Amino acid sequence: MKENNSLPLIMMHDVEYVYSNGTVALKKVSLNINKGEFVAIMGQNGAGKTTLIRTFNGLIRPTKGEVFLEGENIDSKTIATLSKKVGIIFQNPTHQLFSNTVEDEIKFSLKNLNLDREEIQIKVDKVLEEFNLEKYRKRSPLSLSGGESKKIAIASIICRDPEILVFDEPTLGQDAKEIRFLVKLIHNELKKGKTIIMVTHSVEFTIENSPRTVLMSGGRIIADGPTKNILTNEFLVEKSSLIMPQIYQLRIELQKIGIDVPKEVVKEQEMINFLNNYLENKTITIPEERL
Ligand SMILES: Nc1ncnc2c1ncn2[C@@H]1O[C@H](COP(=O)(O)OP(=O)(O)O)[C@@H](O)[C@H]1O
Ligand SMILES: [Mg+2]
Repeated sequence: MKENNSLPLIMMHDVEYVYSNGTVALKKVSLNINKGEFVAIMGQNGAGKTTLIRTFNGLIRPTKGEVFLEGENIDSKTIATLSKKVGIIFQNPTHQLFSNTVEDEIKFSLKNLNLDREEIQIKVDKVLEEFNLEKYRKRSPLSLSGGESKKIAIASIICRDPEILVFDEPTLGQDAKEIRFLVKLIHNELKKGKTIIMVTHSVEFTIENSPRTVLMSGGRIIADGPTKNILTNEFLVEKSSLIMPQIYQLRIELQKIGIDVPKEVVKEQEMINFLNNYLENKTITIPEERL
């Protein structure tokens, strides 16, 4: 596919999708995503998030409307071609893993990229090291823990070096260390100019990491904009069955004792800095009527 830098990397225009049982999963969805963006897709279960991201590599073909990748309509392109550009890491890694060993899983993923055996081996070794999976090389992917098999699913996509990485709920069931690994990996890929799209329910993850949020409900995009504006809006958060980020809840508590936190303070570190500064030269006087 040829480069077209003046257009958004992904363009969806009035996309509708109806499953064979009649469920309307996407209704007139239009969305543009630029190269290098990190976009979070949020919304309650059944909102259409997974259906939407599956249109990006042709796994789901719109019933109506079009999807463009680098300015080209993808309707005539095969999943195999599209998968070289768009790597999707599915919600349940066991649906994605099927080889006998971790090493074979990565090797399989590198097939059809026109690489010779030696190049494949180099890539396999590199990704196993990067992901600290060397010790599992000969193990069956399905014999590993949920967190580890998720890591293998991610490794098997990353090794193909796709332009666009799409994660479907990668933070689900991950512990703090696994989430830190994911954050590092995402920021690394963004530095290389990659585009990241992430379906997640984690408001804390989104507010800390993703500048833009797309909110879905009932097969539609109900809001699209800066994360700090969307996830601090009570109406939108409520409508999507999300929980307000803790920082925002803290802001409300602080307001009750007379501390007005500036609007631009949304991340944990920004709040810590603000409070440290504030307490350095002020005493909190608790007004009776505000408690
Ligand atoms: N294979 C399927 N067949 C029929 N309906 C489906 C299928 N997959 C999802 N749906 C329905 O489509 C709607 C959107 O689902 P989905 O895209 O999975 O939402 P989300 O990822 O936001 O939870 C839901 O009503 C869901 O029940
Ligand atoms: Mg889903």
